Amino acid sequence: MRRDDIISPDDYRAIENSLAFEIPLPVAKDWSAAADFLKLLSDFCLDKKPVNIVECSSGTSSLVLAKCCQMNESGHVYSLENGEEFAQKTRRQLTDFSLGSHCSVIHSPLENIEVNGVPFKWYTLDKLPVRDINVLVVDGPSGFIQKNSRYPALPLLVDRLAKDCVIFLDDAAREDEQALVRLWQLEFPEFQAEYIENERGCFVLRRC
Ligand SMILES: C[S@@+](CC[C@H](N)C(=O)[O-])C[C@H]1O[C@@H](n2cnc3c(N)ncnc32)[C@H](O)[C@@H]1O
Repeated sequence: MRRDDIISPDDYRAIENSLAFEIPLPVAKDWSAAADFLKLLSDFCLDKKPVNIVECSSGTSSLVLAKCCQMNESGHVYSLENGEEFAQKTRRQLTDFSLGSHCSVIHSPLENIEVNGVPFKWYTLDKLPVRDINVLVVDGPSGFIQKNSRYPALPLLVDRLAKDCVIFLDDAAREDEQALVRLWQLEFPEFQAEYIENERGCFVLRRC
């Protein structure tokens, strides 16, 4: 475990219990998704049993999503991670939790791209093997990298989303995430966005 990992604080207990984790989740202070966001994801995945789950950024969320696939006896998580060190760390954690077969952590360095004439750094997608994505979790790249850091997710992945795809955008209380959802809605009016007022804010987007 890295020095910035702590054993999960009390607010993660509910999700650990509902998913029957036998050991506490490793939580990286300031970096791991909040417990209430993970609960939202796991409730959805246990209910809808998605086949293809893609997440932008790996970590505690990968363990939770992989555990849902294990409990559902179906589905697989593809986790795009730009940091090689973090990709290896998440793979080790998946192995520690015996969840390695339910999640592929794909080392996807950020590359320079342009979307609608605006430059961004975003995950290389050449190693992402999946189409027909049923759940897309957007929790990276980190906000400090660039303005509207997570905006490219929808324009770059829209062609790979299944009709019923549901998108979860974390940290949506931040101004950047509010702004990028406004852009998404202008460009992709077929998606309806619901704001959930949890610890860090979350947008859930579905096709109308
Ligand atoms: C918000 S974090 C990832 C959270 C992940 N979905 C989870 O639930 O743990 C977004 C990105 O920050 C980077 N990151 C994670 N821990 C970090 C740390 N301690 N210092 C710097 N960057 C970190 C990783 O590249 C990760 O993909």
